Amino acid sequence: SIPSLHEVFKDQFRIGAAVNPGILAGERDLLVKHFNSLTAENEMKFESLHPEENRYTFQHGDQLIAFAKEHGMGVRGHTLVWHNQTPDWVFRNASGGDADRVTLLARMKEHINTVVTRYKGDIYAWDVVNEAVSDSGPEVLRSSRWLDIVGDDFIAKAFQYAHEADPDALLFYNDYNESVPEKREKIYSLVKSLKEQEVPIHGVGLQAHWNLELPSIDHIRQAIERYASLGLQLHITELDVSVFLHEDRRTDLTEPTSEMMEKQAERYEQFFSLFREYSANVTSVTFWGACDRYTWLDGFPVRGRKNWPFLFDGQGQPKESFWKVI
Ligand code: XIL
Repeated sequence: SIPSLHEVFKDQFRIGAAVNPGILAGERDLLVKHFNSLTAENEMKFESLHPEENRYTFQHGDQLIAFAKEHGMGVRGHTLVWHNQTPDWVFRNASGGDADRVTLLARMKEHINTVVTRYKGDIYAWDVVNEAVSDSGPEVLRSSRWLDIVGDDFIAKAFQYAHEADPDALLFYNDYNESVPEKREKIYSLVKSLKEQEVPIHGVGLQAHWNLELPSIDHIRQAIERYASLGLQLHITELDVSVFLHEDRRTDLTEPTSEMMEKQAERYEQFFSLFREYSANVTSVTFWGACDRYTWLDGFPVRGRKNWPFLFDGQGQPKESFWKVI
C-alpha cells in the first residue's frame, strides 16, 4: 500500500501543494491523502483578488480555504507584493501617470489589510514580498514599480501592514535562484537588514525551482545554513524538479526517459534528506503543483514542451521519485 507523504514527514515539516481550481477538482483524492498544506497557484495574487480599485474577487480564494478546512490542511498565502500579476491601476494616478509614493503606499496598505484580515486565522504563513531581489549586477533590489515609486522601504512597509492585520501569521520573504551564491548573499543582506530594523519578518521562502543538475546539493546546503543563521524559519515554497538540463530545448518528448526519472529520483532523495537534516529550520515543504498531469513548466521556459517535475505521474501514481523520498 502507498504511504501518505505528509504522514511520513509529520514530525519534520508540512507537505504542501500549489493548486488552482482545476487541480482542486481533478486531484482531490491525491491532495487529501498526501498533502497537509495548500498554496493558491494564482488565485491569491493581487490581480486575482483585486482587479480594480474598489472591487475584490474572493471566490476562488475562499474555495481553496474551504477545501483546506474541510480536510484539516493549512494554507500558505501567496502573495501580497510582487512586480508580476499586479494590475496596472495600482501604479497609476487619475491622469494615467505614475501614482505618487503616498498614494501607492495607501493602496498597498488597503490591499494587504483587506486580504490578510479576510483570511486571518486561516492562513498560517504569508509570502508578503515576492522576488524583490535582483538576479545579477550590483543592485540588491530589482527595478520595479514598487521600488521606483515608493523607494527601498516598500518591503518594510509591506511587512508592517501585514503584521498589523494579523499579528499571528508568519510573514515570509520569498524568492527564486535562492541557492545561487551571488543572489543568496543579496537575499541574506536584505533580510538581515529587515531584522535589524525590527521589521516583523519570520521566515525566508526558498522557491526551489530546481532541475536534474542545478543547483548543486552543496549550494542548497549553503543557502539553508546562511538563511537559517538569521534565526528565521525556512519554507520550501515552490518545489519542482525539471527533467531538462539547462541547454536541453527538445520539444518532441511525449514522456520522460527512464534516465530522467532515475536521475530525478536521486535528486529528490538528496533534497529530502537535506530537508530532514535541517528540519529544525525547514518547517514546510510545498510543491508547485500536485502531479505531472499539469505543471506551470509545461511550455515554460520552452514553448510547447511538457515537463514531469513531481513525485506523482500524470495519473497521480507514485513515481520512483516518491519511493526514494519515502
Ligand atoms: C506562476 C504560475 O504557476 C503560473 O500559472 C502563472 O502564469 C505565473 O506564475 N514564482 C512564483 C509563482 O512566485 O507565483 C509563479 O507562479 C512561479 C514562479
